[in-house]
Amino acid sequence: MSSKNGIKLIKTQQNLQHLAQGKLWKFVAISGFLLFLFYILFLNHFFKHSSHHLALSKLIWPANSSPSPPTNISHIVFGIAGSLKGWQVRKPYIESWWQKNVTRGYLFLDIPPTKEFLPWPLSSPPFRVSEDISHYAKNMKFQIRVFHMILEVFREENKDVRWYVMTDDDTVLFVDNLVNMLAKYDHAQNLYIGTNSECITSNYVASFGMAFGGAGIALSYPLVKQLVGKLDECLERYQNLFASDFMLYSCLTDFGVALTPQKGFHQVNRAHLYFE
Ligand SMILES: *[C@@H]1O[C@H](CO)[C@@H](O)[C@H](O)[C@H]1NC(C)=O
Ligand SMILES: *[C@@H]1O[C@H](CO)[C@@H](O)[C@H](O)[C@H]1NC(C)=O
Repeated sequence: MSSKNGIKLIKTQQNLQHLAQGKLWKFVAISGFLLFLFYILFLNHFFKHSSHHLALSKLIWPANSSPSPPTNISHIVFGIAGSLKGWQVRKPYIESWWQKNVTRGYLFLDIPPTKEFLPWPLSSPPFRVSEDISHYAKNMKFQIRVFHMILEVFREENKDVRWYVMTDDDTVLFVDNLVNMLAKYDHAQNLYIGTNSECITSNYVASFGMAFGGAGIALSYPLVKQLVGKLDECLERYQNLFASDFMLYSCLTDFGVALTPQKGFHQVNRAHLYFE
């Protein structure tokens, strides 16, 4: 065999190898594509009615997860900030919307009810005495107690909860409207819902992006869950702010969670309160 022929032979062998490699790649590509099609069309169809459906369809069409049942009154837990001294006159505001054995939640008092308040009526929300927060409170005892209430209400009620609604003891709610409004939002997101004050000066003193507590503030379950883990840290930073809703706003701002403004909440402030 001459050297010329030898070179030809090697070249031919190389060409054949390239050809084989090309075919192999084509084969891999096509069979991969067919497997993918099979996976999408057949498996997804096959598992549509089984528990695997969610996981598979999430992989392929992430937006296609099945919706959870609509939000109703049982998914909402109310945390009402009160004090024993004020309860006698403020009770009617709360009893105007509280539905015994229907609405979930607690009135948080500063001290246990004295005997003139007992037996505690079923028409009032069940009460809890706020935890001793004296290790924080230097100046803003009441405000810190109200902010801390978020943690205490979470501890009490955290099964099948979608929303925590924090109010004052003179907040009047229209519960059906509240339920319908919250049902429009995705409770699985970190949501901070409420409205700023109708008094411009109050917004100026606190923030135009803050939910004012007197109108009620709705917090989604996952947000509260994270918040309670950071509450100590937030109180460390914000315990000297002049209002509990301002503490909450400041803390959530650090989380990167901004207010979702919602019409329908109303807070009216007397501006002079801030300047006297
Ligand atoms: C609210 O919905 C849940 C299902 O998520 C259901 O178990 C519960 O009975 C409902 N409550 C009311 C008052 O309709
Ligand atoms: C209503 O709730 C109270 C406690 O708040 C409970 O003692 C009572 O049994 C409940 N009644 C009904 C009908 O569920």
